[in-house]
Amino acid sequence: MPVRLFIPVETRPGEKRVAAVPDTVGKLTALGLDVLVQSGAGVAAFASDEDLETAGAHIVQPEHCETALNKADIVAGVRPLDPEQAPFLRPGAVTLSFLQPSTDQETIQAVAAAGAGALSFDLIPRISRAQSMDALTSQALVTGYRCGLVAASLLPKFFPLFMTAAGTIPPAKVLVLGAGVAGLQAIATARRLGAVVSAYDVRAASADEVRSMGASFVELELDAIEGSGGYAQELSTDRAERQRQLLAPYIADSDAVITTAAVPGRRAPLLVTAEMVAGMRPGSVVVDLAAESGGNVEGSQPGTLVSTDGLVTIWGGKDVASQMPMHASRLFAMNVVAVLGLIVRDGELVLDPEDEIVDGAAVVLDGQIRKEA
Ligand code: NAI
Repeated sequence: MPVRLFIPVETRPGEKRVAAVPDTVGKLTALGLDVLVQSGAGVAAFASDEDLETAGAHIVQPEHCETALNKADIVAGVRPLDPEQAPFLRPGAVTLSFLQPSTDQETIQAVAAAGAGALSFDLIPRISRAQSMDALTSQALVTGYRCGLVAASLLPKFFPLFMTAAGTIPPAKVLVLGAGVAGLQAIATARRLGAVVSAYDVRAASADEVRSMGASFVELELDAIEGSGGYAQELSTDRAERQRQLLAPYIADSDAVITTAAVPGRRAPLLVTAEMVAGMRPGSVVVDLAAESGGNVEGSQPGTLVSTDGLVTIWGGKDVASQMPMHASRLFAMNVVAVLGLIVRDGELVLDPEDEIVDGAAVVLDGQIRKEA
């Protein structure tokens, strides 16, 4: 019996990505997998049932979905399985998706009760062997690129320098706060469009990365700090306040500010207050990628354009990767292939808890919850 993979329709409103695209179905079958995709799962990402079928997938009609869930060895998705779907999993099966112990307890409990397992892309260790599986990185690349484009399209000015017979127009000044994967992509995109870009991050290592993208690094009189695993650490209240004070003049001098700062497992740090927004020039734009996790910018709202008395526009990100569903899905689907390449060996599903990647990613294994909220 080949290992059976099922990809159901994503149920979370606003989610347009899909875990398999026609290009990856062939790679999955080459691993010895029988690939089942629920009808319509790829439509929002422009992967039609016909194209997926031609690539080698079997299309499952909605009325047969529970049977497919029950027969699957692996269920892959972008978002976690619905708690109502999890009871259909058979013991020993495993789900693969983004999944957070802090927010997805209902699904985790239901998967455990079914005697199944759950691997989370959020928890795959960022070691070199797991680079091809790193969906946090692949999706941050999409969101960072998108933020650069959004800033350029909302700004009532040009990004590049223009020298014309009617006079010279200086380039826009863009400031990127948080220079992780998404921030570096936002820098690259704004630079390609011709803006003059500067950036700041609390991690010391980010300064060289920022400069290598052709942006200048904003040096604040504030010690750099770093937490474990190369991630940032939450700042104390005093340091966070000092950081905002030191950032204020840079923000006031920017045409567009793009914020991407995050600390794993915490609310996004507040970097830009309403007062700082009020200090920006009329027509300026603030793009807050962290709006869904609490916001880097006071007053930003996920999925909403906020205008401060018609002077400054604040864009709050919501489902940002889903705004580019084709390539977001393609990259995510490649991450899925890489994880399945690890856990499907010689035509068998092998979940080895001794493996550093499986150990890191497994929230539930064979009905046992391994990561607490
Ligand atoms: P993230 O999404 O958790 O955070 C985004 C950025 O916000 C980070 O650069 C962080 O330092 C910054 N930040 C947090 N609090 C801040 C504050 N108060 N002020 C300014 N900036 C603040 O980070 P992401 O993009 O997931 O990357 C985290 C780290 O992991 C980076 O060092 C990155 O280079 C590294 N990484 C390593 C990989 C690998 O080795 N395979 C793959 C991807 C990332």
